[in-house]
Amino acid sequence: MERVCIENLDHLGRGIAKRNQKIVFIPNTIPGEIVEIELVKEKKKYDEAKVTSFYKESEERVKNLCPYFPRCGGCQLLHLPYSKQLQYKQEKMKNILDRYHLDSVKLNKIVASPNRFHYRNKVTFQNQNHQLGYFEGESNHFIPIQNCLLLDEKINQSIPTLPTNQGKLIVRSNQKEITFHPNKKIMHTIGDFQFAVSLESFFQVNDSVTPLLYQKVKEYLSPSKEDILLDLYCGTGTIGIFVSREAKKVIGIEKNKQAIEDAIENARINHIPNIEFLCGDAGIEANKLKEKITGIIIDPPRSGLNHQTLQTILQIHPSKIVYVACDPMTLIRDLNILKEDYRVEEITPFDMFPNTYHVENVVLLKKI
Ligand SMILES: C[S@@+](CC[C@H](N)C(=O)[O-])C[C@H]1O[C@@H](n2cnc3c(N)ncnc32)[C@H](O)[C@@H]1O
Repeated sequence: MERVCIENLDHLGRGIAKRNQKIVFIPNTIPGEIVEIELVKEKKKYDEAKVTSFYKESEERVKNLCPYFPRCGGCQLLHLPYSKQLQYKQEKMKNILDRYHLDSVKLNKIVASPNRFHYRNKVTFQNQNHQLGYFEGESNHFIPIQNCLLLDEKINQSIPTLPTNQGKLIVRSNQKEITFHPNKKIMHTIGDFQFAVSLESFFQVNDSVTPLLYQKVKEYLSPSKEDILLDLYCGTGTIGIFVSREAKKVIGIEKNKQAIEDAIENARINHIPNIEFLCGDAGIEANKLKEKITGIIIDPPRSGLNHQTLQTILQIHPSKIVYVACDPMTLIRDLNILKEDYRVEEITPFDMFPNTYHVENVVLLKKI
């Protein structure tokens, strides 16, 4: 048994300590705490360990909120007060910008989530022995779940009634109802827009943060009636529709066929005449466009932009780009390429995923 002092938190929310000149990462710890540890993994450059007992516990530690914490691994920051979670995410963004040559970019204060708990409108349950639950961390060790602090209460209440005869079960909820039927769309309201969303289409998970994030995208884009905008990775058409009334025209591109069908339906439901959608790869489809695009919204998956898509964006050369990113590391990688032709003006982080290490960012880039 060894005792170490936690010095800091890493980008995954794990405590960082040093032992024998080597770094060790320890989940569920707070800087200043002294903990006894057991090694879980030994690597060349660092080790991973778990806490066996707390010798000196932080006064800030939040305890006993969830019976599955920290075993489940879904919440990495549940033991921190919410103000400290926000501070951690703010500092994480500042450190990343400093480290990757973007220290001159204006970093705004993180936008908190109005709901710290029960914010998730979608979950993917695993299913074993006729019980629903999660896999522990990255493993395939199953934990049956009766109630999850992150899930919308309607999903929690429905758990005992959900089918348990499928390998995986996706459940979605809106303000009124839940569904797990693949053919049923669920309606979501954002501002004064309605969006029909199929079970397998992407939709932002935190309904209390999404309108704040979309408002920031619109503010950064500041569309006018001369603008022809491109909404890359448009999902069910949400952001494009949200900004369409102020623009001349919007073109959305998305590779998921079902999401494109939802997007076309959403344009109709919201009476938006000036938007069209293309189904295909963002980089390939954008490269074929003939219109003079004046602004681009980019909201890619965690992997960010591939080489071809980056080249296409640089070729289109709009005056403004608004990049929405759920992974800060791939965002920074892409910004460092785009900054050859674009000034990265400002970044606003959003706490889309309270109690986890994840942080969403909206970035404004302007043509140099
Ligand atoms: C983070 S979501 C953004 C959705 C949308 N902007 C929203 O706010 O609801 C990313 C979307 O990119 C789509 N996608 C992933 N790879 C793609 C590609 N190579 N080309 C086009 N769309 C892609 C996914 O299907 C998903 O709908």
